[in-house]
Amino acid sequence: MSHHQISRRDFMRASTAAGVTFLTPTMLQASSRPAGVPANERVRFASIGNGVRGCEIMRAALACPGTEMVATCDLYDGRLTAAQEYAHKVLPTTKDYRAILDRKDVDAVLVAVPDHWHARIAQDACAAGKDVYCEKPMAHTVDDGFAMVDAMNTHNRIVQVGSQRRSSIVYAKAKELFDRGFLGQVNAIEAWVDRNDASGAWVYPIPPDASETTIDWNTFLGSAPKRPFDPKRFFRWRCYQDYGEGLPGDLFVHLLTGVHTILSVKAPPARAATMGSLSRWTEDRDVPDLVWTLYEYPTFRLSLRCNLNNESPEVTRLFGTQGTLEIKNDVLTAWPQDTEPKPEDYSILGWPEKLRNEYLANWRKEHPSPEPGHYPLRESAQTFQAPPNYDYTVDHMNNFMESVRTRRPSVEDAVFGNHTAIACHMANYSYFHKAMAVWDAEAKQIRG
Ligand SMILES: NC(=O)c1ccc[n+]([C@@H]2O[C@H](COP(=O)([O-])OP(=O)(O)OC[C@H]3O[C@@H](n4cnc5c(N)ncnc54)[C@H](O)[C@@H]3O)[C@@H](O)[C@H]2O)c1
Repeated sequence: MSHHQISRRDFMRASTAAGVTFLTPTMLQASSRPAGVPANERVRFASIGNGVRGCEIMRAALACPGTEMVATCDLYDGRLTAAQEYAHKVLPTTKDYRAILDRKDVDAVLVAVPDHWHARIAQDACAAGKDVYCEKPMAHTVDDGFAMVDAMNTHNRIVQVGSQRRSSIVYAKAKELFDRGFLGQVNAIEAWVDRNDASGAWVYPIPPDASETTIDWNTFLGSAPKRPFDPKRFFRWRCYQDYGEGLPGDLFVHLLTGVHTILSVKAPPARAATMGSLSRWTEDRDVPDLVWTLYEYPTFRLSLRCNLNNESPEVTRLFGTQGTLEIKNDVLTAWPQDTEPKPEDYSILGWPEKLRNEYLANWRKEHPSPEPGHYPLRESAQTFQAPPNYDYTVDHMNNFMESVRTRRPSVEDAVFGNHTAIACHMANYSYFHKAMAVWDAEAKQIRG
């Protein structure tokens, strides 16, 4: 009998197999109800994937009003334990996500599994009538992304992708400045995330109890090629194309979400050209540690860089005819260009003095200084910063919970998530094919 069958069958029963005491759903429903929130507005959720991000978004979900965690799923025993520790409660646990989807007391699932599992779980969850918060990047392949969009539409579910800049008050301010024309026409944007340590390069420590007894390795592999148990692949999956998309899928996607949000982008880029290299973290990975991509969008060009070999603050910078906007870490600064009309003083240097003086006199006549008392005040540099305790992941999760409750469309649905994911795939396509990646919207394919 497979691991799947065992865990699914036993899921609802009390068990001590993994050192965990299970509660029945009835006991759980009575156990915790957030104060002041009517019971009929409570969103009951379960987590699928409780690694680093799974625990973060679980905590974010628990910080939102009117939520209750009812069950949890992961492939590694240690993370089933960790989830319950973070939730401060004993939960039903399983290694088979389908057992979560079978539960009647689950309204929504938080999916924080490696990228190659996103599409299958999200599609099954939609078909089971669950709303889905799915971590970024939404999809491992272009086909996966469109299948997820179809599942969201066919089953009429709320699907929200977990790229939290979409709900950030800092990015909302940037969008407001852009929309009201503070920057004028923006034709160039650059952004980067650079790191310089082992954790940043995904060389995470392996828990000492990692083994085929504590981990369901075959399920982890899923649609990826079969191979013998390898804890490095399990815990450092980002390093391998079988499970992740390297730097574009891990980090470009955040930069893309920010840019697509500010400029209301509603399609993937037209073209992408990537240069990159693997120069330092050369062991046990098949993805580069530097990726530098130039994207072509209809009205602007975007340069994205992720480098795992030098630390520098995270920046997104927009260059416009009227102003420049920079978001450095969480601080937004916008400053105007000097667009005051000025007489030409460079190219007239070679004119005879008489012509030069006439030109300057005419210019001053055509551009008179305002009368005293009529000088307008000019907008100058502005800075905005989120308060120190602000967590945009909680805002993003709260938006999801509100959508689940009210059926208001998700702030970052599968269509939005698909556009940023496709841009990540285009960056990788260009790097690995050493060619320009061209988005063929009609064929829904990347072409060389
Ligand atoms: N939004 C963000 O800022 C952010 C940050 C980090 C990670 N992420 C995303 O979150 C996802 C998870 O990343 P992570 O860093 O938490 O990885 P992780 O390796 O720490 O955790 C993944 C967990 O998923 C479990 N898992 C794998 N396949 C499963 C399956 N079929 N069913 C149930 N559980 C399964 C594993 O056991 C593991 O515990 C990724 O898509 C990643 O890109 C997003």
